Amino acid sequence: MEFAGKVVLITGASSSLGKGLAQALAHQVDALILVARRGELLQTLEEEVTASACRCLSIQADLLQPEQAEAMVQKAIAQFGRIDLAIHSVGGGRPLSLIDASAQHIVGVMNNNYATLVNLFVPLLAHLRQQATPSVIAHINSLAAIVEIPRGAHYSAAKVAAQRFLDTARIELRTTPVKVLTLNPGFVQTENKKEKMLMGITLEKAVTLMLAAIAREKASYSFPWPLVSLFSLIRLLPRRVRGRLLAALSDRESGKYTED
Ligand SMILES: NC(=O)c1ccc[n+]([C@@H]2O[C@H](COP(=O)([O-])OP(=O)(O)OC[C@H]3O[C@@H](n4cnc5c(N)ncnc54)[C@H](OP(=O)(O)O)[C@@H]3O)[C@@H](O)[C@H]2O)c1
Repeated sequence: MEFAGKVVLITGASSSLGKGLAQALAHQVDALILVARRGELLQTLEEEVTASACRCLSIQADLLQPEQAEAMVQKAIAQFGRIDLAIHSVGGGRPLSLIDASAQHIVGVMNNNYATLVNLFVPLLAHLRQQATPSVIAHINSLAAIVEIPRGAHYSAAKVAAQRFLDTARIELRTTPVKVLTLNPGFVQTENKKEKMLMGITLEKAVTLMLAAIAREKASYSFPWPLVSLFSLIRLLPRRVRGRLLAALSDRESGKYTED
């Protein structure tokens, strides 16, 4: 897809990947709709976006609430008449040992990553399937959907759920003008993650790679390639060897994070 002249909705626009994508797209698209819960951060970003001659609407919404997600989509359509590209960048989950985890926390991470996707997807699709022009839904998922990472059960499970949901949606929607893309980053050094990470890449690099994948309308794009190759190799190993290796990798990295 060409970005010029497009109306683009970005959820999770108040920080990190969503914000970086908005800043990059502000110079290329016609209009941006910025969505998150922290209104004051969206307001600051809206001022920055409009300074680059891009039309902008920021909408404060909690996507854990289906009615707020639906109202947000309606507001965006009412303002701009259509959405050409929707990028969903809500989610996350810090490493957490299952020994310390509460059921509430694990389910909360599932909701943050999976329920927000569903709450957005349903009202969005209702509009996009009737839209006269083609559209793209791009979801930021994770390499955690590919391999089981110790201290990441809560996060991996949520990302696997999102992956299966979208893979199935892609098949069901193949005859409609709605394309579904999944972007699977490895570790990205965002504003919330300053510590050195396994094969981590900068936010700027991640944004460039994701926009290139969206432009090519790649159904599924995983990056960076060295980490994708490592995870793909690990998946080929016998289960016991794989478990030992993943545990060792996780132990090596564990001192670098704080758990929430
Ligand atoms: N950073 C990485 O290394 C990395 C790697 C792989 C995958 N990913 C994935 O990329 C996505 C974005 O990650 P990130 O690092 O940019 O995370 P982040 O900095 O925590 O950003 C998450 C964004 O989502 C918004 N948000 C959270 N809950 C929300 C809700 N209920 N309703 C509406 N907005 C909500 C937050 O804004 P408010 O708090 O203002 O609502 C924020 O703008 C996630 O799905 C994550 O799993 C990230």
